[in-house]
Amino acid sequence: MKKTLLVTGGAGFIGSHVVRLFVQKYPNYHIVNLDKLTYAGNLENLRDIEQSTNYTFVKGDIIDDQLLASIFEQYKFDGVIHLAAESHVDRSITNPLAFIETNILGTAKLLHAARKAWGQDLEGKLFYHISTDEVYGTLGETGLFEETTAYDPRSPYSASKASSDHLVRAYYHTYHFPVVISNCSNNYGANQFPEKLIPLCIHNIKNNKELPIYGDGKYTRDWLWVNDHASAIDCVFHKGVTGETYNIGGHNEWKNIDLVRLLCDIMDEKLGQTKGSAQELIRFIKDRPGHDRRYAIDASKIAKELGWKPSIQFEEGLANTIDWYLENEEWLASVTSGDYQKYYQKQYK
Ligand code: NAD
Ligand code: DAU
Repeated sequence: MKKTLLVTGGAGFIGSHVVRLFVQKYPNYHIVNLDKLTYAGNLENLRDIEQSTNYTFVKGDIIDDQLLASIFEQYKFDGVIHLAAESHVDRSITNPLAFIETNILGTAKLLHAARKAWGQDLEGKLFYHISTDEVYGTLGETGLFEETTAYDPRSPYSASKASSDHLVRAYYHTYHFPVVISNCSNNYGANQFPEKLIPLCIHNIKNNKELPIYGDGKYTRDWLWVNDHASAIDCVFHKGVTGETYNIGGHNEWKNIDLVRLLCDIMDEKLGQTKGSAQELIRFIKDRPGHDRRYAIDASKIAKELGWKPSIQFEEGLANTIDWYLENEEWLASVTSGDYQKYYQKQYK
């Protein structure tokens, strides 16, 4: 079936994997990628598919009403997959307003533009909002986030994502607007900006720089390979039930310090260094304010109802990811020049 889809934030980490998957898997779909190209957006991430006849890039901001109205008019979208966001918790602590603007106001404007353009003709339409497990707050030693877990966001980032989720649900209940939401755990993989834990440590080990571990390092995250998140998004987009929420996760919990030690050992092997060299770079530093202790996802609903599960084990995905960063030195060098240095000095001074 022919479809025209708007993907927002498609030049970012997860968005670029989603765009590539849809462009390659669905030649009958026309994928329009709307991205502002903030520091996190990078057209290099899509170089291999940018000439595809079923792909179009539009540079722009999701808070720009006029632009949204004009692209909805021009392309007559059948669906929206909304990933555009400010995504880094530490940046939300230093600059919360940027998160409120893009994540809350931007989502509101996108909902408004889609509803205006689609009017009463909602047959076959879908607004798919990509969210995070961070909206559920933090867990103790046990328990998992379920779709029914009450929201309890604690950082400006997670509060802004929670707010956007509420707006999306409000459109469903108030206007019968066709929405679906998924809340995913931490992603890792190729093309992730090196402000996030895994690529930051890979980059620092390569450059023999310290590995900053917040607090006691026993904070726990549930890691999922980005390509598996993209396949889950494909699954929810095509099989998800309107009005429903699906949690997505890897059943793969790691304490930060254990994860960084594993990463160090793999890096030593790949770089031909003595075992233990990279671990010497580990430094425990001042904690992130409001740091959520543990995230873990119960992904049984998407498994049972839609038949999705992750495709690879963490050790394999991590080794592939490290290979990607080692083989793509230019990508890493280009994103860590300029503003990245200023950010790094300020964050880790
Ligand atoms: P990212 O920061 O790598 O990419 C975000 C993209 O959005 C960039 O290309 C950026 O240029 C674009 N963007 C930002 N503001 C914009 C605006 N105002 N208008 C248009 N484009 C804009 O983020 P990511 O890690 O790929 O996350 C994508 C989505 O997935 C986000 O909504 C995030 O909340 C969610 N998510 C991320 C993770 C994760 O582990 N990274 C996990 C669960 C959910
Ligand atoms: O859970 C999903 C979320 O995962 C997404 O919604 C966010 O967009 C994404 O950024 C990610 O958030 P986290 O804060 O969990 O990811 P980050 O890579 O920043 O940190 C992972 C853990 O590592 C967290 O406990 C903080 C810690 N950390 C992070 C950095 C950058 C450190 O100890 N040192 C660091 O330098």
